Amino acid sequence: MKHLVDLKDIGEQGIQELLHLTDRFAEVCQRPIPKVPALRGRTVAMVFFEDSTRTRMSFDLAAKRLSADVLDFPTHASSLSKGETLRDTVETIGALGVDALVIRHGVGGLPSEIAHEVGEYISVINAGDGLNAHPTQGLLDAYTLCQHFNGSAGPEASLAGVHIGIIGDVRHSRVARSDVDVYTKLGATVTVVAPQSLQPSDVDKWPVEVAENLDEVLPKFDVVGLLRIQTERMDDSSALPVTDYVERYGITEARATTLKDDVVITHPGPVNRGIEIADSVLDGRPNVLVSKQVMNGVALRMAVLFRLLGSGIEIE
Ligand code: CP
Repeated sequence: MKHLVDLKDIGEQGIQELLHLTDRFAEVCQRPIPKVPALRGRTVAMVFFEDSTRTRMSFDLAAKRLSADVLDFPTHASSLSKGETLRDTVETIGALGVDALVIRHGVGGLPSEIAHEVGEYISVINAGDGLNAHPTQGLLDAYTLCQHFNGSAGPEASLAGVHIGIIGDVRHSRVARSDVDVYTKLGATVTVVAPQSLQPSDVDKWPVEVAENLDEVLPKFDVVGLLRIQTERMDDSSALPVTDYVERYGITEARATTLKDDVVITHPGPVNRGIEIADSVLDGRPNVLVSKQVMNGVALRMAVLFRLLGSGIEIE
């Protein structure tokens, strides 16, 4: 495994391997000094063309906990503004001796193109590309659910028998696409719930059930996976007035009474409080795993960096 640009490329075996490795790094993260020398001498560049809190900071922390050096690429203050192409910029980053590029970009497919062009000497890790994929988010969501239902990801991670509802702005969500990839590979049943305008045009080809009426399906779910409303990616045809959205798809206090008692709630963040979910449900209900997802994101990204860049130094 040289790159991680899409979960479709690594198959079930690659997913299993990364989830199992995450168990080991979750243990490292619990230590009084959560740092190992495994990537000493390696350098990771962070290239984020879209805003991020969780993904950027957790990749940064993951690399540092593995003793790698981290270079921050200032996308708004680089030679791109002088007309340098992205390809030349990436080649320059490679020539500096960087081993891995963690890239987030608004154009779907760009990390894959970069991996094809310059991937011989630099590992490319997709931190979210347009509507296309957010592989590490998908993996950390799956890891968090395996940990919740099975105690760990174990050598054979499985979500068989778990019914997961993915609710909201599925059309504009790269997280939904990566979540569906990994959840279904691990044996879960997935239902996506969205108004027609927020369903992907090719949803009939996805390995999921599709529903429009949330109240009809919500009581069946073992996991309620909420998505952020991505107004920045919407045009007028897909925009739904916020009040309509809350009324039909928000996890309001009233709607929360119809959930299974032990239902698990996830959200990749950032949450639009009062829209996707009411404050009182987010803050007051058990089994809201949002912070756990963030926490596991560090261990999962340590596993990815270690798998792609492993220098031969064992995890101690
Ligand atoms: N979930 C996620 O990708 O969050 P950030 O945009 O904060 O990285």
